[in-house]
Amino acid sequence: MLSVLKIQGGVQLKGEVKVSGAKNAALPLLTTCLLTDQKMVFKNTPRLSDIFTLVDLLEKFGVSSGNFDQNTLELKASNITTLIAPYDLVRKMRASILVLGPLVARFGEAKVSLPGGCAIGTRPVDIHLAGLKALGCDIEIDQGYIIAKAPKGLIGNTFTMPVITVTGTENLMMAATLAKGDTTLINAAREPEIVDLANCLIAMGAKITGAGTDTICITGVPSLGGATHTILPDRIETGTFAMLAGITKGDLKITNTNLNLIPGVTQILTNAGIELKEEANGFRATSTGKINGIDIMTEPYPGFPTDLQAQTMALMSLCDGASMITETIFENRFMHVPELCRMGAKITVHGSSAMVRGVKELSGAPVMATDLRASVSLVMAALAAKGETTLNRVYHLDRGYENIEHKLIPCGAQIERIKIS
Ligand code: EPZ
Repeated sequence: MLSVLKIQGGVQLKGEVKVSGAKNAALPLLTTCLLTDQKMVFKNTPRLSDIFTLVDLLEKFGVSSGNFDQNTLELKASNITTLIAPYDLVRKMRASILVLGPLVARFGEAKVSLPGGCAIGTRPVDIHLAGLKALGCDIEIDQGYIIAKAPKGLIGNTFTMPVITVTGTENLMMAATLAKGDTTLINAAREPEIVDLANCLIAMGAKITGAGTDTICITGVPSLGGATHTILPDRIETGTFAMLAGITKGDLKITNTNLNLIPGVTQILTNAGIELKEEANGFRATSTGKINGIDIMTEPYPGFPTDLQAQTMALMSLCDGASMITETIFENRFMHVPELCRMGAKITVHGSSAMVRGVKELSGAPVMATDLRASVSLVMAALAAKGETTLNRVYHLDRGYENIEHKLIPCGAQIERIKIS
């Protein structure tokens, strides 16, 4: 079902918005069900198309999914019937690669399609595979599939990741929980989603220390039990809503989250002219009426998140002055630039840096979403622009934002979702 969003601009958003559970925590967390034959219960699970895609894939393996209501999802992998993750599902959502570590760890084998690249980059998984090899797994690539075999089980080892990789760290941490002996992951990613995953694995009986630092130690155990886990709030949605208050000159109470999730962002937001005030169960983001130009460079956590880069660019397109935005994580994450320029933004890209010269006003226009975070940057620009914007390919937006229009309309946004086919 293809839809567009029709957005009327020029509204100051005022009111309360609730942050959903983190997509990038939920995806690895759901795959932990493959590590045990006991029931897993996940609370605060966001209802996103990516989550439904992953549940589809898990059900293909034979996982039974209980009711998914009120954001609580139950999964049980007590009757796995296949160990193959087919191309048509993996290509829809790259994070499907996260089934690889758990499947090999528990069943000693897996056949997972190589996830293709995506709009923002080639997105290789070589480090995932090198790490599994270090744990004693045989890896073969055949006709676009990863054939992983560890018939005698995985063996703990020390593995240094040459590049900080979030899902690479997650895949290997999950695999190591059932390996024989100790594993040390060096140069591990430190994102809050890694800590959340480790906490869930520990509740299942895993022995993990150091999650959240660059060195994670795992002592393998023979098996894992079930657990109930509440998924942590989405820090990217948190930052996105704070910037929405800034770009619409509004005032938003942002709940079910906390500012400690975005340490590399709060000072940037304050410098950009958004007042942040901690409150019970969240914080208030209030525009000071100005948007000051600031410079950012995306970095692994706790640096400035690449997943907030496009949103920052939308905000900076209306700044007094200029802003230099440098993307260091992905090689092609500026596809929102031409679309923002269609709305009147003045942005010049040189390699991995974009110079944004603030303009007085953006104007609504038909624009195209290209990837998840680019699409929300266009929603932000549209809400601040003069006139009407039609956002095409809304499915990109739905991958990462649960009912965004239902959250923003009560704050004054004029957004209409129209089915076009
Ligand atoms: C995770 O992707 C997130 N996705 C991304 O969010 C996020 O942008 C990214 O981390 C960086 O924070 C999920 O958690 C599901 P990486 P991931 O492996 O793990 C290179 C969104 O919008 N690399 O940390 O796939 C890679 O090319 C998405 O929600 C290798 O070279 O990213 C990149 O340059 C987009 N070899 C860098 O590491 C590998 O084997 C970081 O990628 C793996 C990664």
